Amino acid sequence: MMGKYRLKTFIILLASVILIIASCNRPVPAPKENPYYSRDTATFMAPDTSTIPNDQFGDLVRYGRDLILHTAYYIGPNGIKGKYLGNKMNCTNCHLDAGTRPYGFNFFSSYARYPQYRGRENEVLTMEQRVNNCIERPHSGIPLPLDCKEMVAMVCYIRWVGTNVPIGHQVKGDECLEIEYPDRAADPEKGAKIYAAVCSSCHGINGEGKGPEDSVTYQFPPLWGPHSYQIGSSPYRVVKLARFLKGNMPDKIATWRKPFLTDEQALDVAAFINDDRIHSRPQKKDKSTPDYPDPKGKAIDYGIGPFIDTFSEQQHKFGPFKPIISYRKAHNMPVKF
Ligand code: HEC
Ligand code: HEC
Repeated sequence: MMGKYRLKTFIILLASVILIIASCNRPVPAPKENPYYSRDTATFMAPDTSTIPNDQFGDLVRYGRDLILHTAYYIGPNGIKGKYLGNKMNCTNCHLDAGTRPYGFNFFSSYARYPQYRGRENEVLTMEQRVNNCIERPHSGIPLPLDCKEMVAMVCYIRWVGTNVPIGHQVKGDECLEIEYPDRAADPEKGAKIYAAVCSSCHGINGEGKGPEDSVTYQFPPLWGPHSYQIGSSPYRVVKLARFLKGNMPDKIATWRKPFLTDEQALDVAAFINDDRIHSRPQKKDKSTPDYPDPKGKAIDYGIGPFIDTFSEQQHKFGPFKPIISYRKAHNMPVKF
């Protein structure tokens, strides 16, 4: 009896080990060559879309990817699946290449890092709640029901992009490029000149963006004004935006391997875009829940007080950031961007 039992356990164990080894070693095919991707760096790559499985999960992944690419068509102001977004932008306008471009606000390690504590809400958010954050802020929309097919599909897609990223881990390329902080504040006036010379041909002289003829969405998304992202959304922060611009704008010219703007130029143009003395943008609708109920959780470049240090709103928004960083380090305070 005993021997038979042991043999059975041994066979089950052996089979499991073989299965685990086999699944670990299965290579994830890389996307086709493209200036943004490279096989010769350790930068993470999302699996190729041809590997999306032909099962129920795969169907959701494919629909989710379509939603990230054509968000306005499905759930925009005139969406065929519901009117949720307050503007005609698509997720992929910021989460470039449907969230698969290195250093382009991608979803590489997103699934692996959620549920996550978020300082802005001072609570743990699920992936679904985080998606709704982007629907409410950059898109000025109303939250999707957490269990609707569109939400489930987008989360399945984000899960699939992060295939093989261990839970709790980050991977190379999942954040935007780093920038060095200059000793001066970011300068919106210098940024205005860069904008006029480099960006306005696509995004418009008034940052209004340009649509294709069908008016469902944009060819070049807006950067400020009533149809752009809200005050308080992530790209409204100067450093957060500058890091994205460095590796990705102007579109099709800058790449993370060959940025176009210098760090100072990226900060200046981000300051110009996000300067609310010059440009207006939508405000948060529901003011009943304040952002960052505990100011300790606030990112340094979040330009709306109160703060746990004594620096002004102006300096938090535009810099210079080095004095804030050293003050915080000296006082054992969190340094978060
Ligand atoms: C050749 C046209 C082109 C130029 C020039 C260009 N962009 Fe863009 N930009 C785009 C496109 C297209 C997207 C959306 C990307 C997508 O959907 O794949 C975009 C997206 C963005 C976004 C994120 C989406 C949004 O609307 O908030 C920002 C911010 C941005 N660009 C800023 C800039 C800045 C600043 C410059 C100048 C330094 C610039 N762009 C130059 C075409 C351009
Ligand atoms: C105007 C730009 C913009 C648009 C449009 C946008 N987002 Fe975001 N989103 C951001 C930024 C910026 C962040 C913060 C990224 C970071 O901190 O590196 C973010 C973060 C996220 C995160 C968390 C990622 C992580 O790894 O922590 C998810 C998930 C997300 N967005 C989903 C979406 C979805 C789904 C849509 C479309 C319905 C969308 N976003 C539209 C700018 C945008």
